Amino acid sequence: MVERSKVTQSGKSSMAMVLGIETSCDETSAAVVTRDAQGAGHILSNVVLSQTAEHAPYGGVVPEIAARAHLVHLDRLIAQAMTEAGARFGDLDAIAVTAGPGLIGGVLTGLMTAKAIAMAAGKPLYAINHLEGHALTPGLTEGLRPPYLMLLVSGGHTQLVSVNDVGDYSRLGTTIDDALGEAFDKTAKLLGLGYPGGPEVEKAAASGEAGRFDFPVPMKGRPGCNFSFSGLKTAVRQSAVAAGMLSAQDVADICAGFQRAACQAVADRVANAMSEFEAMHAQSDDRVLVAAGGVAANNALRATLEGVCAAHGFRLSVPPVSLCTDNAAMIAWAGAEQMQVRGGDDLSVSARARWPLDEDAAPQPFAGVKA
Ligand code: KG4
Ligand code: ZN
Repeated sequence: MVERSKVTQSGKSSMAMVLGIETSCDETSAAVVTRDAQGAGHILSNVVLSQTAEHAPYGGVVPEIAARAHLVHLDRLIAQAMTEAGARFGDLDAIAVTAGPGLIGGVLTGLMTAKAIAMAAGKPLYAINHLEGHALTPGLTEGLRPPYLMLLVSGGHTQLVSVNDVGDYSRLGTTIDDALGEAFDKTAKLLGLGYPGGPEVEKAAASGEAGRFDFPVPMKGRPGCNFSFSGLKTAVRQSAVAAGMLSAQDVADICAGFQRAACQAVADRVANAMSEFEAMHAQSDDRVLVAAGGVAANNALRATLEGVCAAHGFRLSVPPVSLCTDNAAMIAWAGAEQMQVRGGDDLSVSARARWPLDEDAAPQPFAGVKA
């Protein structure tokens, strides 16, 4: 059994143990994480059940299927996470749960479960913004403290965020249409490759000639840090249709051309974001770009980001893939960090399909499919 956390006179735990729950997209996850008095994080358990097989026949995440799958598996996964951590609900200092943004049926499943545990165990509930979970992950994985620049590229999100402090985020850019992972998935679907499409496109691109199709690099040279991938998607479709019956080499060449254009687009946007970040944080000399989300697993993108970092005096940090993609450890950690700066949420807190990390940023109603 784990040692119970000790509470200081200020009421803050010297060591906090938090149960995290994540159900906002197509991963059902429960985790137990501790944060020690020095602010170091430790993952005691992090159980992730991917629903990829359920959604694969449809070539994308089906919200109703996702919500039902969360409902079927969540209780068991929480029990498993608690067992692996060697903890009981009474040992916890808080329950942290993704309350948005995401597919509302799934978010509701996690939030209602978290509320029930919080009420039954008499523990505070922290409603966590899923994006904040991604944004604070480097604190858990490598003890990195803000400020740092964050590129989040997943199936539902494509954002550049200045992480100024815990709870203080400036969104520098977002997609105005498709998310980057979505663009990879749609390219794969168009070319008859498997789901999820990102890894398939990357594999095919390895034997392709990127220069054969001269796809446009979206937004290149434009001011600001917003992304757009729908034009590239259209160009890919037109090339595929024009080529007629596609040979394996055609598919490889299209994938290579698409991946190169996508990486160049990201490089251009990230370079602008670095300038904005430097202007905002002129006093801090440790410049770090953190890349997270499923697309950060792409090796061509990583190489591109290494290049941009080298050119602009930044260091690239990419959390391990298991903590870069959706997981509950990042939600538990965000809860543990929030505990240091605020009290828990009321049990009446609502699930939110849309929940910008930076409430001051202009809304982008078509940004990504999943949030
Ligand atoms: O963060 P994630 O696991 O889940 C959410 O979207 O929330 O990201 C999944 C996305 C999918 O679109 C998938 O195709 C993409 O990340 N992805 C990749 C690669 N691995 C996963 N995209 C490009 N290259 C990869 N190697
Ligand atoms: Zn995510």
